[in-house]
Amino acid sequence: MPVERSFGELSLGLLKRASYGFLLEPVSLRFVPLNQTIYGYLQDLCQARSDPIVEELRAETLALGPVSNMAIPREEASLLSLLVSLMGAKLAIELGTFTGLSAIAIARSLPPGGKLFSCDIEPRWTQIAVRYWERLGLSERIELKLGPALETLRALPRAPLFDFAFVDADKENYELYYEELLPRLRPGGLIAFDNMLREGKVAESPSSDPATAVIHELNRKLAQDRRVEGVLLPVADGIYLARKVSTGLLPEGVSCFTRAWV
Ligand SMILES: C[S@@+](CC[C@H](N)C(=O)[O-])C[C@H]1O[C@@H](n2cnc3c(N)ncnc32)[C@H](O)[C@@H]1O
Repeated sequence: MPVERSFGELSLGLLKRASYGFLLEPVSLRFVPLNQTIYGYLQDLCQARSDPIVEELRAETLALGPVSNMAIPREEASLLSLLVSLMGAKLAIELGTFTGLSAIAIARSLPPGGKLFSCDIEPRWTQIAVRYWERLGLSERIELKLGPALETLRALPRAPLFDFAFVDADKENYELYYEELLPRLRPGGLIAFDNMLREGKVAESPSSDPATAVIHELNRKLAQDRRVEGVLLPVADGIYLARKVSTGLLPEGVSCFTRAWV
């Protein structure tokens, strides 16, 4: 169905309701279903700002074959850079380095003296990452932690160190990663979880895929968890942004959809 039509029909539906005397639905219920044309359009906009060395890394990653699907797309890289800048983050951690694209997006937005710990288990991919970090002058700013991410996390002090975390490693461990990251995140700090839509499979319940079942449970948990406020963004494969609330818990009655003032 052409996008203009589906969007138009949705708007018409809202108007019809109004003429029957019902309240208009909030405009935020509108959405634009992505198709290849619109997706290409927004990718082009991101590419226009991209760096030739980063584009070279994208090409080298693509040449790895189907595994290249693991890399974050350009618009997600832009979002990560923006979030890190907006937060004024100084210390960040990511779980899942792969060939280093998300690390570059995060590290480039850190101030001088800022640091990103980038965790992965597979040197085959991270040696590509390290090569490009050097070329981009980011080696000082990114510290690679090779090994199972859960062990790396548990070896860190259980203190509110980090401003920003990006979770993009093995999906089965996401809930454990969350519980290890939260005490290590400063109040007001942000965790961004990647692949929280699992290509839409999270909405099919019950899911036969164990990793999708974990993600589905984590989405539900985050939506109710009063230690964080958050939103699931339909960007790329779904990014859940969870901000640690500043004073312990969200008050009763304040949901994840309510802007928290704590
Ligand atoms: C989806 S990729 C990360 C993509 C990366 N963020 C990017 O932007 O290109 C997932 C990565 O997690 C790593 N990984 C899988 N299991 C892991 C574990 N238990 N501990 C640490 N890293 C793990 C894989 O080796 C892989 O490189």
